[in-house]
Amino acid sequence: RIFKRQMQCRFDIDRLNAPFLAIYDSLIPTEEEKAKQNQLFTLLETLITKEWPEAQLYVYGSCGNSFGVSKSDIDLCLAIDVADDNKSEILLRLADILQSDNLQNVQALTRARVPIVKLMDPVTGISCDICINNVLAVINTKLLRDYANIDARLRQLAFIVKHWAKSRGVNETYQGTLSSYAYVLMCIHFLQQRRPAVLPCLQEMQSTYSVTVENIECAFFDQVDKLRDFGSNNREPIAKLVWAFFNYWAYGHDYANSVISVRTGSILSKREKDWTRRIGNDRHLICIEDPFEISHDLGRVVDKYSIKVLREEFERAAEIMQYDANPCVKLFEPY
Ligand code: CTP
Ligand code: MG
Repeated sequence: RIFKRQMQCRFDIDRLNAPFLAIYDSLIPTEEEKAKQNQLFTLLETLITKEWPEAQLYVYGSCGNSFGVSKSDIDLCLAIDVADDNKSEILLRLADILQSDNLQNVQALTRARVPIVKLMDPVTGISCDICINNVLAVINTKLLRDYANIDARLRQLAFIVKHWAKSRGVNETYQGTLSSYAYVLMCIHFLQQRRPAVLPCLQEMQSTYSVTVENIECAFFDQVDKLRDFGSNNREPIAKLVWAFFNYWAYGHDYANSVISVRTGSILSKREKDWTRRIGNDRHLICIEDPFEISHDLGRVVDKYSIKVLREEFERAAEIMQYDANPCVKLFEPY
């Protein structure tokens, strides 16, 4: 059933390239904003190393993976040698230090699922969350950034997809839709699967970067400067890719049996992952394998109601790309 409606691309799709690129350009943070983020990072790093000389502060999330739109919050990770039981103590001490340095709205959320300190910098107006020892997030941030440096179309596609998801209200994990991280993985996977491929599979190549974190070996090819021509056999411009992305998730993806996997650059079966039935709260209604925590399905937040919402949104987007006179407006209309 799901395959029968796959569409042929509209013939005048190319006229949408310029407007999509204009949207992309309008979402990119300015150099000035980047400089302000760096300024805040340096301030926090100085304060932190004064208190904990051995600790390291890392950027992760959208400010580090190059998929951050303008006005994004900064996600930071403090890597420090501390037992899990003592994280709260560190967070409370950190909150004290930041408060005394005139940062605003400083809050230690020690009971959250991921305990953090939140703050706002009155000088730059930038908000920031600091967590402790979430090193895998720092590594997956590097993986995403390395992919972004291979072919410019990934960043274009991911910005447009994220912008669509936020506009349509389907970027809310607490409401059962997907995280930005999941959407970027969907874009990477999609470009790996395109024929000719736009992106390679870095984790299947000879590794030039390797670290072991929480007993997980994270290894991949990271000399991406050498891959700048990788996608050159594929000449599809952005509008065609946006069209094909939504068409795939609306009509091409086999939700009942398939798992998308950036790690292998392929589609795996739910059967081989043993993701065929609900276990606890993991329903596996849309399956997106984390590239390093491979038992982790990023679609696990999706429930039987939100899967419907999500699929209807993919179908809406695909129909608009196919038939609408002005997709670049209609796609992003608030829900
Ligand atoms: N992350 C993760 N596993 C998840 C969700 C997130 O490891 N299930 C990590 C990733 O490193 C991701 C970061 O947390 O880059 C932030 O996640 P998210 O807020 O989804 O992405 P951002 O890129 O920060 O997106 P936004 O621009 O919406 O803030
Ligand atoms: Mg973020």
